Amino acid sequence: MNQNYNQFNRQQQARNSRAARERAARRRAKARARRRLLLFLLALFLLLLSFFIVRLIEPNREEKPAQSLQESSSQPASTTSESVPVQSESLPSVSSSTALGTDTQTFADQQGYREENAQRYAAWAQAHPEHTPAQTVGYVNVGLDQEFYSQVNEIEDPDNLLVLCNKYHKLPDGYEPADLTEIQAQYSNGKTVYLRAEAAQAFEQLCQGAAEQGYTILGQSGFRSYSYQQQLYNNYVQRDGQAAADTYSARPGYSEHQTGLAMDICNGTLSYTEFGQTAEYQWVRDHLHEYGFVLHYLPDTQWITGYMTEEWHIRYVGVEAATQIYQLGITLDEYCALYL
Ligand code: DAL
Ligand code: ZN
Repeated sequence: MNQNYNQFNRQQQARNSRAARERAARRRAKARARRRLLLFLLALFLLLLSFFIVRLIEPNREEKPAQSLQESSSQPASTTSESVPVQSESLPSVSSSTALGTDTQTFADQQGYREENAQRYAAWAQAHPEHTPAQTVGYVNVGLDQEFYSQVNEIEDPDNLLVLCNKYHKLPDGYEPADLTEIQAQYSNGKTVYLRAEAAQAFEQLCQGAAEQGYTILGQSGFRSYSYQQQLYNNYVQRDGQAAADTYSARPGYSEHQTGLAMDICNGTLSYTEFGQTAEYQWVRDHLHEYGFVLHYLPDTQWITGYMTEEWHIRYVGVEAATQIYQLGITLDEYCALYL
């Protein structure tokens, strides 16, 4: 009996200790599972944290244009009469400070950068990713992101030989240079023409230099007063309508001829509008700058100057600037916007 009781007791103890071991094993398993869950949650938290940190540092990463400005090297879009400047009303707003900061830095390295134009550079670059930052700075400085005649400044120093008179810069009312000088009759095409003194002397040297090479250059139209330009422009508007007239004739107050620094030339045989077809034109293209003149309305620049090509229209700026403009291959408008 006693023996049976002891055996029962041992079996009971063994069952108890097995149950205790199983409970302990279950507790350990639960603890392991809790630790794994905790580790998993910790890893998840760290992952999310690093993701947010990256987003915080670079919030607009995905919004950047695919093509970086520095990589863009293509030339300006075809510069035909169909090219239309970006309208100021349609400028995209630049709200991202990172994008603005990056672009501003890129533009700030360019010749002619103007801090006050920073937003306009960024807007132009978005609308014209094909332009380099250097081109963007030049085009915006010229004012090409604003319609011709829409944002006009009155010229403060019209007597400056580097004065820029275009569809963004107007001469003061009634301006007339004080030193207008008659061109010698042998260098004019049958009527009296005038330029400012320094330009007149340079023009006569140009005509003389051409003659020495066997070419004839004559002055067709030099200084034009405000009222004469008004008559011309109004006649053209009546004949062809304003939109067409604006492509080849300046509105009164906006003509370079009123500065006394521009001359329309011919070769004495063909009409001045046919000057582009003459041998003289070929000579002029290579030698004009040596006398201080530039061709202002070059082929493919109508979208910059606002005027059709005028192979006959030359402008005095002095030998130094003329040589720089010739070598850079840019318009006077861009030169003034970038270097003055
Ligand atoms: N033909 C030029 C643009 C003028 O009228 O001044
Ligand atoms: Zn002209």
